[in-house]
Amino acid sequence: MKIRKAVIPVAGLGTRFLPATKTIPKEMLPIVDKPSIQYIVEEAVQSGIEQIIFINARGKEAIEDHFDTHIEMETILKNRGNDLLLEEIQKLSRLVQIATIRQKVPLGLGHAILCAKDLVGQEPFAVMLGDDLVDSKVPCIQQLIHIFNEEKASVIALMKVKKEQTSLYGIADATPRKSHERLHDIRALLEKPPVEKAPSNLAIIGRYILTPEIFDQLEEVPPGKGGEIQLTDALVKLLHFQKVLGYCYEGERFDAGDKFGFLEANLHYAFKRPEFKERLYEKISSLYHQLLLSNRL
Ligand code: UTP
Repeated sequence: MKIRKAVIPVAGLGTRFLPATKTIPKEMLPIVDKPSIQYIVEEAVQSGIEQIIFINARGKEAIEDHFDTHIEMETILKNRGNDLLLEEIQKLSRLVQIATIRQKVPLGLGHAILCAKDLVGQEPFAVMLGDDLVDSKVPCIQQLIHIFNEEKASVIALMKVKKEQTSLYGIADATPRKSHERLHDIRALLEKPPVEKAPSNLAIIGRYILTPEIFDQLEEVPPGKGGEIQLTDALVKLLHFQKVLGYCYEGERFDAGDKFGFLEANLHYAFKRPEFKERLYEKISSLYHQLLLSNRL
């Protein structure tokens, strides 16, 4: 069955990015000149997704507005003859079909995904987290869709992290397939285990292909870590009767929901732009020399 729908939960409070996120959704903070959510939606569209389901919250309407028409802005750009910008703005509203559901209380990622149950229906679907930007040759979610099409099972994107970082992520207990080193059969999943309890250094990142049976599990799991309904807990229950796979995707990932990750993402994407590359290089070289001179290195 084709993966047609992507659920993108964006209802979180974004406390790691305060004060910027007091009134601005973190997903609207720009990476160079595009809000981070646009990178995620473009990745979905490039991967063949036909419908985006945002799980949103009060005060974060700017996210769906970004993909809507803006008649006033379009008229002004047209009158000024700014055809390039006009085309760019109009393209956004034609990108993909978007539906939005409100998560009335932020009860966790698992609860946010459960909010999409009726809109998703009985078909496998993608989940993409707005914090995780992945720059790759083949879009990250397309890599997972490819595995789903071959294996007909849920697939989770995995990334190798340093052992001491396991307490920051969901961690997979998994065996690599002999025939395909990136592909893993998952035995168990642990939410943010301390280093001594981590079964591996394979961390879950925010890209998933899930079968619709996940909704029954989400309905039953009690609140887990932080009092939130955790997607990882529901996946653990799903593992009792369905295969769940892990896939070490190809690409570079940035946690744009974290201040340092956001800075890294901005540098990475800015370096890819010919108009910024040289000036950025000069600026960074000059900062480096200042640091050397002040004997801090
Ligand atoms: P995070 O754990 O990053 O939470 O959620 P957050 O609230 O967005 O950010 P911090 O930690 O307070 O800075 C992971 C993803 O799940 C969504 C978030 O929007 C984010 O994309 N989420 C989380 C929801 O949609 N609803 C929730 O109740 C919790």
